[in-house]
Amino acid sequence: MISIGSDHAGYPLKEEIKKYLDENNIEYIDVGCYSTDSVDYAVSAQKACDKVVSGECERAILVCGTGIGISMAANKVKGIRAAACSDYFGAKYTRLHNDANCLCLGARITGAGSAIELVDVFLHTEFEGGRHQRRINQIMDIQDGKRLY
Ligand code: RB5
Repeated sequence: MISIGSDHAGYPLKEEIKKYLDENNIEYIDVGCYSTDSVDYAVSAQKACDKVVSGECERAILVCGTGIGISMAANKVKGIRAAACSDYFGAKYTRLHNDANCLCLGARITGAGSAIELVDVFLHTEFEGGRHQRRINQIMDIQDGKRLY
C-alpha cells in the first residue's frame, strides 16, 4: 500500500501518478488534496507520512510545485526519509543507498512522463543494505538527538 498526497500545485501530477498506480494494480490511499484550490503542503505531507510510520503504507509519494517544501515537511516526521527527486538516477539511488520511504516530486519541474518513470523505479528498487545501513542508522540517530562526533 502506498500513500499519496499533494498540495494544489501538485494536484494535477498526483492525478497522473494515480492513473499509473491504477494501471499497475498498485494500491494506494490518496490523502489529498482533491482539487487545485490552494492548500498548505505540510498538511498532506504529514497525513501521507503518518501512514508510513504507522505501517499502514510501505512508502509515500508526495507532490508540490517544486517537491522541496513538501519534502522538508515530510522529513520532519519521525521515521521518514524523504527525497525530492527530479532525475531517474536520484530516484533509483535514494532507494538503493538511502532506503528512502518517501518520494517527493515537483509538478512545476518534472513532467508527467518523467515523473511516472521516477515513481516506477522508486517503487521497484530495493535497499542494498550493507554499509548503507550504518549510514541510515546515523541519520536516524541525528533525528533522535544523538551526537555522531
Ligand atoms: C505553492 O505555490 C508552492 O510554494 C508549493 O507547491 C511548493 O513548491 C513549495 O515548496
